[in-house]
Parts: sequence; structure tokens; C-alpha cells
Amino acid sequence: MRNEEVFKSKWDVAVVGGGVIGLSIARELGRRGLSVAVLERGHCGREASFAAAGMLAPQVEAESADAFFHFGCLSRDLYPSFAKELFEETAISIELDETGTLLLAFTEEDEREAEHRRAWQQRAGFEVERLTGAEARALEPNVSPHARAALRFGHDWQVENRQLIAALIASARRYNVSLYEHTEVLALRVEKNHALGVETTRGNLFAKNLVIASGAWSSRLKVADSFFVAPTIEPVRGQMFCFKPEEVFARHVLCSPRGYIVPRRDRRLLAGATVERVGFDKSVTEAGKRFVLRNAQEIAPSLRRLPLIDSWAGLRPRGESAWPVLGATSDVDNLFYAVGHFRNGILLAPLTARIIADMITGRTDSSELTDKFVKAFSPERFQMIVA
Ligand code: FAD
Ligand code: GLY
Repeated sequence: MRNEEVFKSKWDVAVVGGGVIGLSIARELGRRGLSVAVLERGHCGREASFAAAGMLAPQVEAESADAFFHFGCLSRDLYPSFAKELFEETAISIELDETGTLLLAFTEEDEREAEHRRAWQQRAGFEVERLTGAEARALEPNVSPHARAALRFGHDWQVENRQLIAALIASARRYNVSLYEHTEVLALRVEKNHALGVETTRGNLFAKNLVIASGAWSSRLKVADSFFVAPTIEPVRGQMFCFKPEEVFARHVLCSPRGYIVPRRDRRLLAGATVERVGFDKSVTEAGKRFVLRNAQEIAPSLRRLPLIDSWAGLRPRGESAWPVLGATSDVDNLFYAVGHFRNGILLAPLTARIIADMITGRTDSSELTDKFVKAFSPERFQMIVA
């Protein structure tokens, strides 16, 4: 079939962007029987979602039991069934690893922060274990002897995010989702307060609903002929460095307030990451390398002896409040945003998919869950009308 013919049909949903967020939503909608087209400028899953470390760690960095914390914990708790379903559908393992995460304290301030986190999380009923430095080293012998104390988060897990992308692509296809790679969306077509479709490099595509999931590039999408509420999303670069030891180096994800080391099943170690506002530049830099390696070696000094085998950078999509932007706007009733997942898009993908699919299909059986987050993450909270 020629491109123009494919694009002539009217889809239930067009999803702009084939990262972990767009793919998870498309798969969920496909499962519910809707006709879905994903429009991806490059290859699906090759931007931030490919660069990530795959930590499913809502507890380790949380400051308080706010809506974002609960959203992260609920999404993490979906992962065991998400991983199982994806495996049954595709035979691809996303390598969900439930060993847990250690947060290591090296200074007095680190210790104070960790103690505060332990106290409020335990009060709120979440599992956290306090360890001495020696206990942390007994669990993970490569941890630095300078660790003064640690917290162990037994429910903060990890997945291999590149396997997750592969599984989502295969699963989405199984549910008849059409993935159009090398298809850039140039503009959204909106008439009055109704989205009609998109203009792409392969022609116009019509859809009853549009989902914007184009990551760090989401604010760049133009809207033809309309007033428009545009959430502001900016790119935040993260540089990552990858080592390959001869033997297993660690079992837990190892974090400090300044960096992290993620051990993969194939023995690779990912050391991350910078958090830089440098526009759309995805370069790996010497300064970034020094910063990440210094922080990783603080956690595990023996990392110094390992061969560096790879490095990369990705652009995290950050909204104005660093919380995701999810749902419809009041100006355009069938246009949905799923953007701004910043440092946690892998973690937040399953629950984001469920919530956006509920909004589109009008499903009410999880509406209690949806309602809880609708206000907190609504695009309306930064509404800005552009004539
Ligand atoms: P992306 O994966 O960037 O996907 C957006 C897609 O939209 C891209 O494929 C792009 O090509 C496409 N696109 C853009 N514009 C257009 C257009 N006009 N037309 C068509 N297609 C378009 N998260 C975690 O949960 N845990 C972690 O441990 C973690 N570690 C991270 C480490 C690093 C170094 C980085 C950079 C990120 C990390 N993240 C982590 C964050 C996570 O990677 C992101 O939040 C997540 O990948 C965002 O997914 P996305 O689908 O919104 O964006
Ligand atoms: N969540 C890890 C990172 O964004 O670097």
C-alpha cells in the first residue's frame, strides 16, 4: 500500500512520538480494540527511552508523600504484571530485577537527608531498611569503605529499558498498532476546539484523537489554524557511562545523592548521570565524564579499574514543575498530552498508559485512580493561550 492510501484512513488515535510513553499508550489502546497509528520521526525508542538507566525507583529520591510519589509507587507496582504480560505476548524479557536499591550516605548531610527520608516513608507505611556502612558493604563488597550509612529500598527495582522498548514494539504490533517510523509530525490540525489529525512528512493523517508523546520536542509542534494551549517542555541532557567488569560487580542499584551505578544482568554497569540544560545537544563531554565518574567512584572506588566500553547522552523531557503533564486541555477536547516525564519516564510508563487510555476510552473502572492524578498532572495547570 502506498503512503497516501494508508494515511487516508481515519484512525481512532494517532500518537505522536514512539518513545516508551507513546509506545506504552499505543499498546494499551490497541489492547482495548482501538485502531492506533504511532508517528515516529526516527526509530521507535531511540531517544531518551534508549538512554535511560531503567531504575524503577520512586522511593529513593522522594522528598515527601505527594501525588508524584504515589504515582511513581503505583506505576512501579504495575511492573511485575506488565513484565509478565509483555513476556507472554512477545517472549521478550524486560529483565525486571527486584533485588532493590541502596542509597549510600557519605557526608553528615547525606546521613541527615537519608534519615529524614527513612522516617517519613516508614511512617507512611513504605518499606525502607536502615543499614550501617559495614552492613551495606556486607551486601555489596564493592561499596566504598567511606560509606557512613545506607538505606535499602527493597521495592525500588530496575528493568533493561532497551529490552522494554523492544517488547513494547512487538506487543503493540501484536495488537495491530501501526508504527510509522521516519515519519515526522510537522503540525497538528485543529479546527475550532477539535483535533482533526496531523500533517507529517508523509502526508496528512486523520484521527479521532491525538496523543502528544514527543518527549523533549513536544513544545516544538506547531498547530495549524487554532488557539492552542501548549505545555512548555524543555530538554535536560543526561550523560551516561558504561563499564564491563569480568565478574559480577554489584546486585543492587547503588545510589548516592550525586550519582548512581546500575548493574545489568549481562554484567554491564551504567554510571549516571549529568542533569544539564544545554538545549537539544546530545554530545558526551569530557566535563560530563569527569562529573559522572567522580560520583560513581565515590560510591564504588574499584570502578576506577574497569574498562569503559560505551557512553551516550539523552534528552529528558522536563515540564515546568518537573512533574508529568497528562491529559486533555479544555481548548481542544480530543487532544491529549503525555509529556514531561523528566527523570522517571520508564518508571511512569505503565500507569501513564492506563490513565491516558482510560481518558480516551471513557473507561470508568479505574476512574478513582485516574481522578486522583488528573488535577495534579493536568496540562491546564500551566495554561497559556497563544493567538
Ligand atoms: P522519548 O523517549 O524521548 O521519545 C519521544 C519520541 O518522540 C522520540 O523517539 C522522538 O524521535 C519522537 N518525536 C519527537 N518529535 C517528533 C515529531 N515531531 N514527529 C514524530 N516523532 C517525534 N527514567 C526512569 O524512569 N528511570 C531511569 O533510571 C532513568 N534514567 C535516565 C537516564 C538518562 C541519562 C536519561 C537521559 C533519562 C533517564 N530517564 C529515566 C528518563 C526517561 O528516559 C524519560 O523520562 C523517558 O524516556 C521519556 O520518554 P518519552 O517517550 O516521553 O520520550
Ligand atoms: N532517573 C535517572 C536519571 O534521570 O538520570
